[in-house]
Amino acid sequence: MKIGIAGKGGTGKTLIAGTLARFFAQSFKVLAIDNDPSMNLIYSLGMDPSLRDTTIPIAHMTKLIMERTTIEGGGSVVYKANPHVSDIPDLFKIKGPEGIELLVLGTVEQPSSGCLCAPNVLVRSVLSDLILNRNEVLIIDFEAGIEHLGRGTAKALDVLLIVTGAYQKSLDLTDKVITLARGLGIQKTFLVGNLIEDKESDALIRDWAEKKEVEVIGMIPRDKAILHCEQKGESPFESLGTSTPAMQEIRDVFRKLKHYYVSTE
Ligand SMILES: Nc1ncnc2c1ncn2[C@@H]1O[C@H](COP(=O)(O)OP(=O)(O)OP(=O)(O)O)[C@@H](O)[C@H]1O
Ligand SMILES: [Mg+2]
Repeated sequence: MKIGIAGKGGTGKTLIAGTLARFFAQSFKVLAIDNDPSMNLIYSLGMDPSLRDTTIPIAHMTKLIMERTTIEGGGSVVYKANPHVSDIPDLFKIKGPEGIELLVLGTVEQPSSGCLCAPNVLVRSVLSDLILNRNEVLIIDFEAGIEHLGRGTAKALDVLLIVTGAYQKSLDLTDKVITLARGLGIQKTFLVGNLIEDKESDALIRDWAEKKEVEVIGMIPRDKAILHCEQKGESPFESLGTSTPAMQEIRDVFRKLKHYYVSTE
């Protein structure tokens, strides 16, 4: 099963990606992919925080990038259309708790995310190869949007979760991502409401989702205990388990995803 997680900055993508990955890892082999520029998935997975300083994202591995993506000749650089990348995840993935594995892909900081520069070619190729060819449960913490996904790759994603807060800017981005997901042929898109404070916020998201004909798979309340974990650099999954309503709701999202997958196999 391949699950991508998108949504506006700060809505809780990384918390949800990391926590879902830990729930899945209790019964499946999981490879988590950090494709977000802030590279925080290490924390929410409950991995050793010092790994964040020592792990180089694939997007920054200049030598590897040049070796794999370019053919040199006559002084000009030509990019390979299909670089060999299938060995990269196993070469660079790092191990976490309960057999979980993490590949830190990173992102390419360029004015245009669609540029055909070498790091972008490599990151896209690795992502595409992972989604098309791996058998593990893949949980991918994307950048906010999914503009960088090609059509073939997008079609092979089983589920796109879009995390949204109950405010217009977040719903606006969600709207764009839904349109893109439909255009790219992503099989299933679910909405996850997060940082929900009251019934009005819950209703705002549900009404909006109904109008847009997208299914809501979870509504996660704002939870001070999660914030306190973050302040201490602790993983909410490790510290809280399912002791708070918010963590229980993420577990329920996991259960629904598992059920959805089994029912569509
Ligand atoms: N339900 C919640 N209750 C309380 N705090 C939360 C909740 N969800 C997320 N947070 C906190 O909000 C902050 C942003 O969450 P997170 O980093 O997961 O968002 P993100 O969408 O990945 O952000 P970015 O786009 O910057 O990568 C974190 O401090 C996180 O602990
Ligand atoms: Mg994040």
